[in-house]
Amino acid sequence: MSSSASCLSRVFCLLAVTVVSVSLSSHTWEEEGVVYGRIGETVTLKCNSRNDSSVAEWRFNGSPDVSWGYFTNVGDLDLPSVGHSVMGNYTCHGHSGELLRSLLLKVGYLPGMPSVTCRASDYHNFSCYWKPAVDTLLPTRYITSYRVDRNSPEICLQDPTHPNMCSVRHSKLWTSYQMNITEENPLGSNFRILEFNVQSIVKPDPPEIMSAEPIPYAPRRLLVTWAYPSTWPQEPHFQLKFRLQYRSVLHMSWSVVETANLSDVITDAFVGTEHILQVSARDFLDAGNWSEWSVEARATPWISKEPSVSVSEVSNKTTTEEPEPQVKEPFVQNDSVEKVIILISLGIFGFVVLVLFLIFGALIWVRVGRTVKDSGIKANFLSAIHMKTLPKSQIL
Ligand SMILES: *[C@@H]1O[C@H](CO)[C@@H](O)[C@H](O)[C@H]1NC(C)=O
Ligand SMILES: *[C@@H]1O[C@H](CO)[C@@H](O)[C@H](O)[C@H]1NC(C)=O
Repeated sequence: MSSSASCLSRVFCLLAVTVVSVSLSSHTWEEEGVVYGRIGETVTLKCNSRNDSSVAEWRFNGSPDVSWGYFTNVGDLDLPSVGHSVMGNYTCHGHSGELLRSLLLKVGYLPGMPSVTCRASDYHNFSCYWKPAVDTLLPTRYITSYRVDRNSPEICLQDPTHPNMCSVRHSKLWTSYQMNITEENPLGSNFRILEFNVQSIVKPDPPEIMSAEPIPYAPRRLLVTWAYPSTWPQEPHFQLKFRLQYRSVLHMSWSVVETANLSDVITDAFVGTEHILQVSARDFLDAGNWSEWSVEARATPWISKEPSVSVSEVSNKTTTEEPEPQVKEPFVQNDSVEKVIILISLGIFGFVVLVLFLIFGALIWVRVGRTVKDSGIKANFLSAIHMKTLPKSQIL
């Protein structure tokens, strides 16, 4: 029911877009009284009076000095190799000075091939962004369409509040999309074709709610947490993984760790030094690209002498800045208990090693004694064999 409703609304949407695009493409650039010229080329201004002989002169912005133009025998005005300076208002007049026609000349360039990039910030929508290759100086519009698996073209939706961008909703994975971004102005058009699969253009938005904070009594540790980008749909089969980069403010090179979690503990922070941390995200199965880095978080690990000093610009949790005494007590106790346990373990370990050593020594001693005895037995045994193998005559 709901799917058919959304399908219906989609049809209406497409219809609306089609109507808009039809009205757009049927819109001509020929505004009444405006003529467009290509810089460097010849422009002919037509007076279009029924009787050519009635054209007496052309004026430029009201002045009869149009030295750069040539009268044609049919009363038109040829402007060779136009440049910016010839832009303006041209009027043609009859013999008694009456106004026959008024034209506004604008000059510019043909559209270049726009540069286009497409990006999916999730698996259901993607958007394409473009930049004109040439500043044409002229009114410009873009016709944006796409084909799925070479079917008939559909409209890539443009939003007037976001110029130079169009979006495709309900995109499909593992499907080939062929985008056509056409730039058009009164002089002509130029287009760029881009072909891709959605999974190859996935690039999540950066992770959000980035925070870093010291861990009490751990002078080399920092706890970093972040959240999924809000634009990423929370669906079990489209997970993200993350990489965390961090450095102390005194160093330029970053350390990078990868994780699938939404938090990480850095264990090799520099004591008493502020650190900068950032996270970026990527599809868990490595489709597409890494996101941009998130905003920076900054934090300094816990410092032993001044437990209340903690710098965390992004984190607004003030509670972590002042560890409360109740929290501190058991921690210290735990600490000394830990030390005692370590000492006891060391003692036991030493004792065990000593015992093992003694047993080993005893074994070696016994073994050596036996070997000596064995070699004696062997000698006797050999001589017995020797005696046996000798011919009787020899023994006798
Ligand atoms: C697709 O984009 C639209 C508009 O930006 C957004 O409202 C919608 O939530 C997106 N779809 C998903 C699944 O994120
Ligand atoms: C791209 O779109 C423009 C405008 O709709 C069209 O004239 C052109 O033929 C299209 N190009 C391709 C290769 O489909």
